[in-house]
Amino acid sequence: DNRTYCSIVIFGATGDLANRKLFPSIYSLYKKGKLNENFSVIGVARRELDNEAFRNNVRTSIQESKIELVDNVETFLSHFHYVSFDVTDKQHYQDLNMLLHDLEGQFNIPGNRMFYMAMAPEFFGTIASYLKSEGVTNDQGWNRLIIEKPFGHDLPSAQKLNNDIREAFQEDEIYRIDHYLGKAMVQNIEVIRFANAIFEPLWNNRYISNIQITSSESLGVEDRGGYYDQAGALRDMVQNHMLQMVSLLAMEPPISLTTEEIRSEKIKVLRAIKRMTVDEVDQYFVRGQYDEGNIYGKDVPAYRSENKVDPQSNTETFVAGKLSINNFRWAGVPIYIRTGKRMTEKSTKVVIQFKELPMNLYYKSEDNMHPNLLIIHIQPDEGISIVLNGKKLNIPGETTPVKLDYCNNCLDESNNPEAYEKLLYDAILGDSTNFTHWDEVALSWQFVDTIYKAWENNKVSDFPNYRSGTMGPKVADDLLAEDGFHWWPILDDSDYSI
Ligand code: BG6
Repeated sequence: DNRTYCSIVIFGATGDLANRKLFPSIYSLYKKGKLNENFSVIGVARRELDNEAFRNNVRTSIQESKIELVDNVETFLSHFHYVSFDVTDKQHYQDLNMLLHDLEGQFNIPGNRMFYMAMAPEFFGTIASYLKSEGVTNDQGWNRLIIEKPFGHDLPSAQKLNNDIREAFQEDEIYRIDHYLGKAMVQNIEVIRFANAIFEPLWNNRYISNIQITSSESLGVEDRGGYYDQAGALRDMVQNHMLQMVSLLAMEPPISLTTEEIRSEKIKVLRAIKRMTVDEVDQYFVRGQYDEGNIYGKDVPAYRSENKVDPQSNTETFVAGKLSINNFRWAGVPIYIRTGKRMTEKSTKVVIQFKELPMNLYYKSEDNMHPNLLIIHIQPDEGISIVLNGKKLNIPGETTPVKLDYCNNCLDESNNPEAYEKLLYDAILGDSTNFTHWDEVALSWQFVDTIYKAWENNKVSDFPNYRSGTMGPKVADDLLAEDGFHWWPILDDSDYSI
């Protein structure tokens, strides 16, 4: 497939993302024959390294991933080159351009160039403008920019960053990564909804009582305290991943599966999410910060004792909130979201809770009839479960919940590419469906900014307020309790058999 013939320039090639995700993904594509031999990868970073040392790093990073090295790895590595780079030095861009030309000749690559920003965002603007002024973005083939989060800190900074990169790249050349959009089950939301007659007719405020999206992590901030303490859970997870999941769950069926049609439906959802007043933020959004505790049998420190975190920090490491989508389909259906670090376990799940039937013929006690649930397991297990009511064995007139499970990654895990591999391949092919458009970024920031503004006026006084290893502060449970709901626990099979 000659659409994949290209050079990939990775800014930040000695960093964590390049090593943990990008090199293994490129290798996996190569191993599967998706890249042919007509490609090159140029690693760019400040550090002095020669090609040999760089290739050794790449080999190590693949070995540390779960991808198995095979004989062709040396040929693969011969496509990798390294340049030690000062992003503010014009000359370095000219040298990079020469190297690109050389490699294009050597590997028979048309001038297709992919620029991957896998580094701290403060230089994105500088890099983009030099790439253009020094002719590194050329007109021989396509030019594409892949850009990682954080995409700004709030709407004005995101706007500025966007203006900077737009100097060198058109909107349709910009691929803003949200790696959740590369996850198999996030991509499956659309299929579950639009390929099944049993869901779409019920997918509205007549039949759904509420939706719960939880993305819990057991890790703390690890070595990212410097970034995280400035960001917080709302910016880190809600502005991007959580709101993207909300828009996929709530969008109208697109008229076709083109990038533009899907995007325009997602954008409508983001526009329809009700913007809150300060009082509403206080009422509907709660935050938390982890204290010390115990996770998987190991004692862990409080957030305020983490490396590069202010010992008085008021940054939230947990956030839960209730969103309302003001349109015909969703008016009146609360969408609860919750995400945090150092929670009980690493898990992302969506629970769709259906409304009760008009009457219960089997009524015996308060909790006799279980609501129907559709659970979308995003990670680590991938699949869906449906909770139905069945007859309780040997007890006439009583029902019991039963769970039907479909597992997406049980049969062959090795066949299931990681999010980064899928997204990188999409970008190489020029498919931007699973990337975020500027309009989505802007609307998400607008929503999140209102919450931060309200929080600035109303500082917390009781941080830390949840122990590590728990599902967050009690206020997050109260949020649902006020509406007569509760967060669905992680469902154990034993609770759901007849
Ligand atoms: C990133 C956040 O975007 O997503 C991290 O910056 C978070 O703080 C990560 O840990 C979670 O991703 P995943 O794929 O592990 O759920």
